[in-house]
Amino acid sequence: MKQRPPPQKLRLGVNIDHVATIRNARGGDHPDPVRAAEIVASVGGDGITAHLREDRRHIRDEDLARIQNATQLPLNLEMAATEEMLEIALRHKPHAACIVPEKREERTTEGGLDAAGLHNTLAPIVEQLRAAGIRVSLFIEADERQLDTSLRLGVPVVEFHTGEYAHAFLDGDTVRVEKELRRISDMAALAAKNGIEPHAGHGLTFENVQPIAAIPQIAELNIGHYLIGEAVFTGLEPAIRRMRDLMDAAR
Ligand code: PXP
Repeated sequence: MKQRPPPQKLRLGVNIDHVATIRNARGGDHPDPVRAAEIVASVGGDGITAHLREDRRHIRDEDLARIQNATQLPLNLEMAATEEMLEIALRHKPHAACIVPEKREERTTEGGLDAAGLHNTLAPIVEQLRAAGIRVSLFIEADERQLDTSLRLGVPVVEFHTGEYAHAFLDGDTVRVEKELRRISDMAALAAKNGIEPHAGHGLTFENVQPIAAIPQIAELNIGHYLIGEAVFTGLEPAIRRMRDLMDAAR
């Protein structure tokens, strides 16, 4: 009988930005995102994700080195495609850098990067990150044109923006949920077929994570806001454990 390969373990990257959001609300040192990173490591999380925004509204420059020194976990630095962020990434040399779109006025990263429109801006940034040994990913919509440009740029990873899926789920619109899932799942298959490792993230919760986690080609989920919100009620450790269990059960 033909044996099926065992399902690949889905990695969980925990985005700790919003621990820093709470810290910054009072301007002191508490709660410290570094302590959150240590908890992520102790509970078996696979990576730390942090977005150094242009306006430093949550993670700050000095947090990066502190996070890197505090745990052995790989750091995935989310960054805008700017000279300033490139210079910071090259200085800190995180394991991975995920290039995200960034608008000052937005509350969060509201859509995917227009990799196709920004090809010429992205090419030298991707190249310099790659040359420094940093695993580059692009945060894109699950869209063939964006995936095509990602292939041309030679990135090893893309992260699909699951915001539309999460919104449809919240609205209870099952037709849109199915449409979004098909889009993400088709593009994950196409990415993997072309040698790009697909990741996914944005707006994922205990309620909506499983259909995304069940997409076999997706290798990593990056989850932040919901986990930090749940941590207020249950603590970070149980919140991460529950997310991990739901992800494993979906696989
Ligand atoms: N992945 C990327 C690239 C992000 O920019 C973010 C934060 O916007 C996330 C994942 C996590 O999203 P959330 O905080 O909604 O879980």
